[in-house]
Formats: sequence, C-alpha cells, structure tokens
Amino acid sequence: MSTNIWLECIKCSQKYEINKIRYTCDCGALLEVKRDLSKIDGKKLLQTWEKRWGAKRGVVSSGVWRYKELILDLPDDEIITRQEGNTRLYPAGKAGEYAGLNNFLLKHEGENPSGSFKDRGMTCGITAAKMLNAKIVACASTGNTSASMASYAAGSGFKAVIFIPSGKIAYGKLAQALAYGGKTLQIEGNFDDAMSLVQKVCDKLNIYLLNSINPFRIEGQKAILFETLQQLDWQVPDWFILPGGNLGNNTALSKGLMELYELGIINKIPRMAVIQAEGANPLYTMWKNKTEFVPVNDPDTIATAIKIGNPISWEKSLRGIKWTNGVVEEVTEQEIMDAKAMVDASGIGAEPASCCSVAGAKKLVDSGVIRSDESVVGILTGNLLKDPDAVVNYHLDKLSDYGIKGNFKNSPIVIDATVEAVKNAIG
Ligand code: F0G
Repeated sequence: MSTNIWLECIKCSQKYEINKIRYTCDCGALLEVKRDLSKIDGKKLLQTWEKRWGAKRGVVSSGVWRYKELILDLPDDEIITRQEGNTRLYPAGKAGEYAGLNNFLLKHEGENPSGSFKDRGMTCGITAAKMLNAKIVACASTGNTSASMASYAAGSGFKAVIFIPSGKIAYGKLAQALAYGGKTLQIEGNFDDAMSLVQKVCDKLNIYLLNSINPFRIEGQKAILFETLQQLDWQVPDWFILPGGNLGNNTALSKGLMELYELGIINKIPRMAVIQAEGANPLYTMWKNKTEFVPVNDPDTIATAIKIGNPISWEKSLRGIKWTNGVVEEVTEQEIMDAKAMVDASGIGAEPASCCSVAGAKKLVDSGVIRSDESVVGILTGNLLKDPDAVVNYHLDKLSDYGIKGNFKNSPIVIDATVEAVKNAIG
C-alpha cells in the first residue's frame, strides 16, 4: 500500500495511519480517506480507466475496482470482489415525462449483485476488513447494507453480525440476510438505536464496523459517480439527484467529484440534489431553515431504507452539498409512491427509497430549481424486488395507513374463466 494515502479528520484535519482500525478522530468527528492527488497524473489515469472498460474478467472487470487508483490501490489478489457495478444508465422514459425533464437518465444501482448500491461500498469495506486482519464484521441496517455485507462475508469467510430495527424492514432484504447466513439480531428500537448499539459493540468486542461511518465504504461508493461519468464519456450532467438516509452515498459522490475535478478529469462540478422523505428529514430541515442539526426522534416513512432520524454522515454530506452548490428537498409519502409507480411503469422498477430521486426531480422542476432542459442523472439505489409488499399494496390501494392512494394503480382483475370475460377485461 502506497504511503500517499491516510485517514484524516473532516473537522480538525488530524491524520491517522491507513492501516489501523479507526472510524472517528480523537475530537469525535468522522474520518475520511485522503490521498496525495498531486502524485497522480489525471490524463494517464483516464487512459488506464478507458482501457479497462469492458474487461471480461479479473478484478478490473468490477465497476468499482476499474477505478482502484481512487478507491483502494491494493494488489489484485488482496481484493474481494463480486464484479459489482457495471449497472445500466437508462433513459427515464415515463418517469422523465412525469418529472418534467427532457434529459433525465436513471443509473440503476439495484442491478448490483445483492440488488442495491451498497455492494460498491461493501466490496471496498470487506477488502479493508481483510487488509486490517479483521475476522468478524458487523453493521446496523435498514436492510440493504446487511444484505450486502452478509453476501460478501459469506463469500469470503468472514462472520457477519447484523443489527436490524424491530419491524418494518422490507422482506426481500431480511430474506437475504438470513439466506446468506448473517447472524441477524433484531433489536427493540429503530435504526438509530441499532446504529448506536453496533458502534459500542464493535468497539468493545473487536468487531469490524461496516456501516458507512467506515471511510472505506465511502471510497467504494464513489464508483457510482466514476462509472456514470465514464458511461457519459466524461461529459458532466447539470445535476445528480439521489435519496438521503444515513447520508453516506451523497457524501461519496461529492468526494469523488472533487477528486476528479482536482485531477483535471472533469472541468465542471454538477449540482447535487439530496432528497429525504418528509417523515425522516433532519438534513432537509437543517438546510431549509439554516438551523443546527437536530435528529428526528421517531422517523417514519414507507421508504423503510431511509427511515433514519440521526444520520451518521450529516456533516460530510452537508460539506459535499455546499461544494457542489447543491440543494436538499423533501418528498411526501404519496410523492414517493407515485414516482415509484412511474419508475416501475417505465419498465425499470426500483424500491421506494430509490424513487425519491424521481419524486424529488419532479418537485425541483415544478419549483423552478431544476430547468426542464437541464441534464439530470437520478440514482436508483435499490431493486424493485427488495420490497414487493410496497408495490402490491399500492396497486391494491391498501396503503391508507400511510395516507397513500393508489393514484396510478394497476390492480389485478378477478374474472370468470371464459374467453368472453377475458375479452371484456382487456377491452
Ligand atoms: N436507498 C436505499 C435503497 C438504501 O438502502 C439507502 C440506505 C439509501 C437510499 C440511503 O443511502 O444512507 O447513503 O444516505 N440504506 C442503509 C441500509 C441505511 O442500512 O441499508 P444513504
């Protein structure tokens, strides 16, 4: 490992060695991975990345490790990968019309091996676990991080311990954690309680923490940005728009942007729009009212992936939003599920939290923050099949508990088993 890489406090700039386990500074703030970018030739790096595009096998066929120089530059045989990334960038179709955008692309991170964007951070996090000689890994999760961690751990001989909130974790995600053999601990309390517990547990029991507080997770997640820009031949869109929960993902994207900019690989910084659910909106409240950060005590949303009241990375996230002249928006439950109906009806499909990207785009176009002729990339963070209950209940109009109507529902029709009945039904 090169000595040009270290951990650094985002607040007081204290530096720490990269090969010691640490997530926070002595001052209490979060750490991030820093590297000496002046030692990297941006032009040459770009050529290397272009040559690797389309590699059929090997570590660099991964849509994360293709960019290993800005992820974690280890020898190939020290890297744990499932060829993650390489996800599609779709024209948004009906979802674009719905949002009122002429040039809207959706990067479908639900096409990763475990069905969410988490795999990009996880391949890097679990590789760091190996580098640091950890044996047991743990995370608190609303479902996708745990599914991803359990999968990578199962494939590479780590023991996985998962902390999930009681109730309201989407079935597809719980199924994955159990299936991949993660030791799954359901705790009394919500995600924020689980997050606070897992930090204490990892500290006391010498377990490696793989939430996005882990700086290596953020490094891997930057690859969403790198790959999207490579798919666009490094032509930078006007906006990136994505959901915000624990706020690791937007942190990663903005960090990646600043690195590419510093290396001269891009010459423009796109604006970042982070979208929170109305019932779990601490970053939005802070940003809108220009107040101190205040956690939401009892977060609630049908988008269970982002049902988080006390996001661990809010400071890093806010810094990135400022870097990119970005915005924060909130969306209602109805807006999330109607946007989801449009993403699904486009034939693309995604889980509820992902569709904040489209709901937020519509809202920002309606309010004039994003112009309809601007180019926008929305990140779809998770696969439609992660949460089939949300889909079926919307189309059966059974979400009144959340105050949601099936505005664009496609309900099944019960008919007699006759040709005549079929003819009447299909019109
Ligand atoms: N979308 C999905 C599908 C998610 O699973 C998450 C986070 C987010 C968006 C928000 O991303 O936390 O980086 O702001 N899920 C975490 C988990 C918290 O445990 O799976 P973020």
